[in-house]
Amino acid sequence: MPRHVVVLTGAGISAESGLGTFRDAGGLWANHRIEDVATPEGFIKNPQLVHYFYNQRRAELQRVAPNAAHHALVDLEAELEVGMGGGLTLITQNVDDLHERAGSRSVLHMHGELLKARCEACAAVFPWHRDLGSEDVCIACGHSSLRPRIVWFGEVPFHLDAIDAAMARADLFISIGTSGSVYPAAGLVRLARTLGVRTVELNLEPSENHDFFDESHQGPAATIVPAFIADLLARYKKA
Ligand code: APR
Repeated sequence: MPRHVVVLTGAGISAESGLGTFRDAGGLWANHRIEDVATPEGFIKNPQLVHYFYNQRRAELQRVAPNAAHHALVDLEAELEVGMGGGLTLITQNVDDLHERAGSRSVLHMHGELLKARCEACAAVFPWHRDLGSEDVCIACGHSSLRPRIVWFGEVPFHLDAIDAAMARADLFISIGTSGSVYPAAGLVRLARTLGVRTVELNLEPSENHDFFDESHQGPAATIVPAFIADLLARYKKA
């Protein structure tokens, strides 16, 4: 049984909670140009459009709830900590709060969070749950220079040092609900392999880096994630 598990999640884990993915048919990038709503240049050019895009997605969070896949990861984390004296590092590309609402306590949001805002004048970061606009002011410095605390294309993702440290002590890497098309997240499976860490992909269909995984299961996350975790724990209890 593994002691230190690293899990990477993408939009696919939240799909069954009702949140759209990016690259599936009808996904977010089918309806918006990345350069318009997910780049620093797009924000400078048309901040209203960018605020509208993220306000829509932030408002959606009121209408969705975690699914069985999110809850199964909470169970695995508890089992690893209590039963094994180990732990689970949860890395997500998602900007929703479904992992936290399921009970995951330490989530590394490498692409940021919809429910936070960042001041471009003083770099303060604070919770933000309502619509955000150009007229809103920073609670720390009073400037009206707030942006969603989201990592846009061309910007450096968050928590890279913590991610490297977690990978260095991992004995199992599980990727859930991601197309494997955006780096550095998509490169973690290769890092795991060079470190000799066992790799598992749980996804609706084979991802772009499917061939790098030791084991893969296809199906909806709310079905295959609980099943995989139940089987992993059952094997451990037999051992
Ligand atoms: N269960 C499991 N997997 C699913 C489900 C589901 N119900 N529905 C879709 N998927 C899978 C798809 O097969 C696809 O491989 O989830 C993946 C979603 O891929 P993307 O839409 O590309 O989302 P993601 O991989 O999270 O994107 C990575 O790209 O645009 C950036 O910042 C954005 O964080 C995002 C990053």
